[in-house]
Amino acid sequence: MRIAVTVNGEQLEADVWEGESLLTTLRDRLGLPGSKNACEQGECGSCSVLLDGLLVCSCLVLAAQADGHEVVTVEGLAAGDTLHPVQAAFAEAGAVQCGFCTPGLVVATADLLRRSPGPTDDEIREALSGNLCRCTGYQKILDAVHLAAGS
Ligand code: FES
Ligand code: FES
Repeated sequence: MRIAVTVNGEQLEADVWEGESLLTTLRDRLGLPGSKNACEQGECGSCSVLLDGLLVCSCLVLAAQADGHEVVTVEGLAAGDTLHPVQAAFAEAGAVQCGFCTPGLVVATADLLRRSPGPTDDEIREALSGNLCRCTGYQKILDAVHLAAGS
């Protein structure tokens, strides 16, 4: 089937199979490998994107469900060569090691700060509880979110 989806402000079309995930479509058909596939089971958050402004695991969303809707991926956060403030904060705070979790964490953090510009530690932990990182121990991620929030 053919779907039309707005991705990072651009109207795109793709031929997908009925059971295909949005994550597969983004990575394998639309040339957007920023969203990562670490578990494909909704457990790790590495595939997080915004679908009509809502944070979702793109591995759990059918591409067909995105037909006619708007998706923002991690690639859509930066403004050209200028990093999104959350991306810059993750780099500055040293919150990136292998980096596999980072795109999902950046999207989830940008979503959190849009809803809650000055989050507490508890709010941050709750908001990012669906994003797993096996490298950093999370403290530097917490630091990065505070840095991005200016708190
Ligand atoms: S790849 Fe989607 S939640 Fe892990
Ligand atoms: S930096 Fe490696 S999983 Fe998070």
